[in-house]
Formats: sequence, structure tokens, C-alpha cells
Amino acid sequence: MIILGIETSCDETSAAVVRDGRVESNIVSSQRCHSAFGGVVPELASREHERLIVSITDSAVTEANITKNELDVIAATAGPGLIGAIMVGLCFAQGLAYALGKPFVPVNHIEAHIFSPFINDGEAHHAPRGSFVSLTVSGGHTLLSVVAHDLSYEVIGRTLDDAAGEAFDKTGKMLGLPYPAGPEIDKLAAKGDRGFHKFPRALTSQSQTSKSYLGNFDFSFSGLKTSVLTWLQKQTPEFIELHLADIAASIQWAIVSVLVEKTILAARSRGIKSVSIAGGVSANSGLRKAMKEACDKECITLYIPGTVYSTDNAAMIATLAGVKLSRGMQAEHSYNIAPYASFAAGRRKAGLK
Ligand code: KG4
Ligand code: ZN
Repeated sequence: MIILGIETSCDETSAAVVRDGRVESNIVSSQRCHSAFGGVVPELASREHERLIVSITDSAVTEANITKNELDVIAATAGPGLIGAIMVGLCFAQGLAYALGKPFVPVNHIEAHIFSPFINDGEAHHAPRGSFVSLTVSGGHTLLSVVAHDLSYEVIGRTLDDAAGEAFDKTGKMLGLPYPAGPEIDKLAAKGDRGFHKFPRALTSQSQTSKSYLGNFDFSFSGLKTSVLTWLQKQTPEFIELHLADIAASIQWAIVSVLVEKTILAARSRGIKSVSIAGGVSANSGLRKAMKEACDKECITLYIPGTVYSTDNAAMIATLAGVKLSRGMQAEHSYNIAPYASFAAGRRKAGLK
């Protein structure tokens, strides 16, 4: 089965071809037009997607050495994300499916991230046989879930305010870094001292105020943001410039140590020996290293997507569409956009409804 995946939920325009579960092409174009604004401007994102969607799709099909007529299924992100941005990819994909007389499969963006560590890009990465704990950390979401082999999953924790990626981007903006600041902080942190300043870690064992963190898998990053802002206001520009790498490393460590502590606690409390990380923030080298060390200590197997599959990409959309079809999901001819996340706590089956 040959599936074309389309992803336009935020600021990456992407198209990919997956043949029998294996990635044949994955073209990703990251929009640069937002960097001057310190965040994604929704209208600009939609316009950029519209400008690029046809050529990116053509490139994905050409790189896979096929013609559009050979496609069996067209899949696209249906949400959550920016409504106008999703609309561009979703309408394009549905129009293409209609024109080619092929079925269409809508895919939930976050579910696609959850399964991204198991993308086959020439090398098979099988999901664990039993359940695994998934930490899904992106610019808009921070979710801890327990995922079963049958693709059903239970959300056990989420952010109460900012997402982890947002914490990177907004504190990075305070340091004068361009959007998205996550990768910039990552690079700077590699040269800095993470113990330079201790920023707060809300809802964890290291939190000064909360004693009820045990068994609570929710996250909170808005306090960290405020703490960085007020601390920076007390420093001179010269001091900040001199210690930029140390400050970046301290911010990164504050975020990473919370993510690692909660994930390990979740695995321990459920007696689960497999953990995965996914979403844009899972590209962070500090998180990858710290999570690996913590998992090794607990004899937990860690599953991580290749960095190209951490941030938004269409390979994960086409891959999950294939998995869903193989599990009996019916393709549709049309589907309405679903821009808002609805991850009510409780068990649900990925896209199988
Ligand atoms: O999954 P993603 O590409 O898009 C969303 O679905 O949101 O995630 C984007 C987020 C941004 O906040 C970006 O700063 C962050 O992922 N990110 C990183 C790194 N690479 C991307 N954060 C920290 N370190 C990185 N290396
Ligand atoms: Zn994403």
C-alpha cells in the first residue's frame, strides 16, 4: 500500500510517501518568516503552506519514484493545530484524493507524534510488546500517556499551562534568541554550566511549594517563565551576555529534569519497563541524554524517534494512517477539521474512535 501523508498543522509544510509501512520520501520545509515575530503568526503560516504545498507534494512523490496515480491512500493532519494552517493541508489532501479517486484518512497530529519512534525509514523500529509510557513534548503539547500495543492509550498527565516547547521558546525570546528558540537553547546549553542558576521545577520533588506531586503527572511551566523573566530583569546586559550559555543550560536543565522525573515516576508507578519520547522537544540533546541515563538506571528501554521525526513531519502522518488502516479503520472521503486538542483523561483508541 502506498500512502501520501500531508502535514501543515503549524509552521512546517511537509509531504511524505510511505510504501508498505516504510518511508520512501519525507520532504519538510520549515517556515522562516516567523523568526522576526518571536512566534508563529497564524495567517503567515497559512499563506506559506498554500505557497509550498503543491511543490512539496510533487517533490515527495518524485523522490519516491512514483506518479500520483500509483498512490493508494491520501492522509493528512486534521488537528490539533492552527485552524487556517491545517485547513490548507486538509483541503488540499481531500481535493487530491477526490481528483485521483482515492480514499482519504484524517490523522490526529499528537497521536502521530506518539507513534513516531516506530517509523520505519529503512530500519524497522518495533513498538514494545507490552505497554509503554509516552512523553509527547512539542510547541503546543506536553502529554504523558500510557500506550498499549493495540494503540489504545490513556492520558495520565498534561501541562496545566505552557507546553515544554513553549517554555523553551518564550524563555529563549527573553534571552534575545530567534524563534524557535528550543534548538538555539540546546546549542548554547552544550557549552554552559547547568548548575549556574537553579530555576524552579514546579510540581516535582524539587518544588518548594508543592508537597502533593507524588502520583501527579501534570506539568506546569508558567512559573519557570516568570522566574526567568524576573531573574533576568535583575541582571545587567553585560552579565547576561557573558553567561548566556550558562543561563541557557540552567533553563534547559530546569525543563529537562521535570520531564525526566515525571516520566520515570509514571513508569515506576505503573510497573512499565518501556518509555518513549516524541514531539519537537524530544530533539533536545539534553533531554535525550538525561532520559537515557535515567532509563538505564531503572532498567527501562527507551524509544526515541530520529531527530527528523521528532519535529513536525509528514512521514509520521502517513505511517500512522497505514497502521490505522491495517487495524481496520475505514478511510473516509471527507473529514472536518479538528483544530483543538481533546485529550480528556481516560482510555481511547488512536483514531479508531
Ligand atoms: O512538534 P513540533 O515540531 O511542532 C508542534 O507540534 O508544536 O515542536 C516544535 C517545538 C518548538 O517549541 C521548538 O522550540 C521545540 O519543539 N524544539 C526544541 C528542539 N527542537 C525543536 N526544543 C528544545 N530543543 C531542541 N533541540
Ligand atoms: Zn508537532
